[in-house]
Amino acid sequence: MKKGVKMNHPPRSSYVGSTNSELNKWVASVAALTQPSHIYWCDGSEQEYSTLCDLMVKSGTLKKLNPEKRPNSYLAWSDPSDVARVEDRTFICSEKQEDAGPTNNWTNPAEMRTTLSHLFEGCMKGRTMYVIPFCMGPLGSPIAQYGVEISDSPYVVVNMKIMTRMGLPALDALGQGPFVKALHSVGMPLSDGRPDVTWPCNKETKYIVHFPETREIISFGSGYGGNALLGKKCFALRIASTMGREEGWLAEHMLILGVENPEGEKRYISAAFPSACGKTNFAMLIPPASFEGWKVSTIGDDIAWIKPNSRGDLRAINPEAGYFGVAPGTGMTTNPNAMAAVAKNTIFTNVALTPDGDVWWEGMTETAPERLTDWQGQEWTPGCGRPSSHPNARFTAPANQCPSIDPAWEDPEGVPLSAMIFGGRRADTVPLVTMARTWEQGVYLAASIGSETTAAATGAVGVVRRDPMAMLPFAGYNMGDYFSHWLSFADKNLNLPRLFLVNWFQKDDAGKFLWPGYGENMRVLEWIFNACRGKTEGVPTPIGYSPKYSDLNWSGLDFSAEKFNRLMTVDKDKWTKEMESQTEFFQKFGPHLPHGFHGAQTQLKSNFRKLDSKVSQESQLCL
Ligand code: OXD
Ligand code: MN
Repeated sequence: MKKGVKMNHPPRSSYVGSTNSELNKWVASVAALTQPSHIYWCDGSEQEYSTLCDLMVKSGTLKKLNPEKRPNSYLAWSDPSDVARVEDRTFICSEKQEDAGPTNNWTNPAEMRTTLSHLFEGCMKGRTMYVIPFCMGPLGSPIAQYGVEISDSPYVVVNMKIMTRMGLPALDALGQGPFVKALHSVGMPLSDGRPDVTWPCNKETKYIVHFPETREIISFGSGYGGNALLGKKCFALRIASTMGREEGWLAEHMLILGVENPEGEKRYISAAFPSACGKTNFAMLIPPASFEGWKVSTIGDDIAWIKPNSRGDLRAINPEAGYFGVAPGTGMTTNPNAMAAVAKNTIFTNVALTPDGDVWWEGMTETAPERLTDWQGQEWTPGCGRPSSHPNARFTAPANQCPSIDPAWEDPEGVPLSAMIFGGRRADTVPLVTMARTWEQGVYLAASIGSETTAAATGAVGVVRRDPMAMLPFAGYNMGDYFSHWLSFADKNLNLPRLFLVNWFQKDDAGKFLWPGYGENMRVLEWIFNACRGKTEGVPTPIGYSPKYSDLNWSGLDFSAEKFNRLMTVDKDKWTKEMESQTEFFQKFGPHLPHGFHGAQTQLKSNFRKLDSKVSQESQLCL
């Protein structure tokens, strides 16, 4: 560590600098550029966490919740302009634009570095610069990776403590090794006696920038979620996807769960869904009462790193150590496991405060409290016409507080995957569940998933936003090359998982969901569990194999064969349009689109040609 840098700010770090000379050099150069008042190296201790939370309670950034209701928990309210990831301000700055691909924002890296170095000059004045060493994945795991985030936000430090393995143990394990440099500033220097605010950010300028070739992240102007907790989307997905491409593994926007049958046989399954499709709920699913003896356990709710081991199995870890889940819609009926996970030691952001010092949000209970303070500090009553919590309000909770956490969730070798599920939010066309015939077909179908847009987001209703593998905002390189990377797994002599397509979100003509979802998804999960063990084949359809009505366990649910068959219909006319729309989307990848995709599409078309246009699956299935 360079001499002369002031470090006398409480809390006083028990150590300064590291044995990693590259890290020390980088910290010194960032300090010289950003000119913080103090530099603090985070040790990751409980004491440090409490001291920083106390500091933020004093400054007004956090409110301490009533310890009798919510022990050791805090509430933050952000600036109303800083409430979510900012995809339009997110950049992949590869040397060549072609390597960022048509779905990412790109700027020439040298030009971007010039822009950023101007923005970062003096941007930490009056603030403490925190050096946050962290590990993504269990410490010592062959699949884990190291990073160091430099940030001027203590809110980031305490969230990183929950979301990653952070502090001295990570620094020790990193040793002299390589690490991802993740630089973050809220972009609001306290120069010339400017007073601080409770949620500092830069309202005018935000940049979330990735340099995949040098494995660096630079984020400016936002203090919220994925924009600021750089281990999550920036590292564990965007940068890690580029590492995975180079090194033969996958970094995916997937939950990982375990399923065990009453005979004690267990399988691990990962599942990719676009944001806001209930990933956390599915990861923490509680089987219906009629599924006696079945257990579902949670490894992760958002991100999976998947690497072949020497025996050719695909092993998966959750690189995170906590849940950064969406609070609204989470309640005792929808996700009791998540509710238990947030019972203590949790940071809440942008939810409402109850008069007795607890939190509340829409969907937590059926009846709202009579009076609240909403996420903007205003008085709130149930009839006031505004939601009490921001729709993207979050909880940050330690993963090990979830009652369904899997005993192997920190296994350094990861868990073996037997199946991968892909799903979007589609009102029709895509059936409840199908199993792809081959890896190639499954990869093609996974690349074509998407969700229908809502009027609020785009002004257009029912337009499908394609979100390949649910990675559209998270792929750190050209998605066409990403598809080729996926396809290349077929050539590596691996024990590949079976690939499944699901759609929980079909609607009837009145716009009502046809499938009950939540815990009832267990019925589909059981079929997937059996199918990947070779215990059930399914019936061939043009897009893969489907279960018959009698293949699913219906005990405890009154669900007719007629309704099921409607959910399973593979309609030729709809799929003709669907494939036209897929083709249009894939065209944008030009020469980067793998040949395998043309092959998969030709095969699908030929499968459909064999169908009479009005024949629904009903008549093909032997019920
Ligand atoms: C998330 C997301 O926050 O996918 O997990 O947007
Ligand atoms: Mn996500």
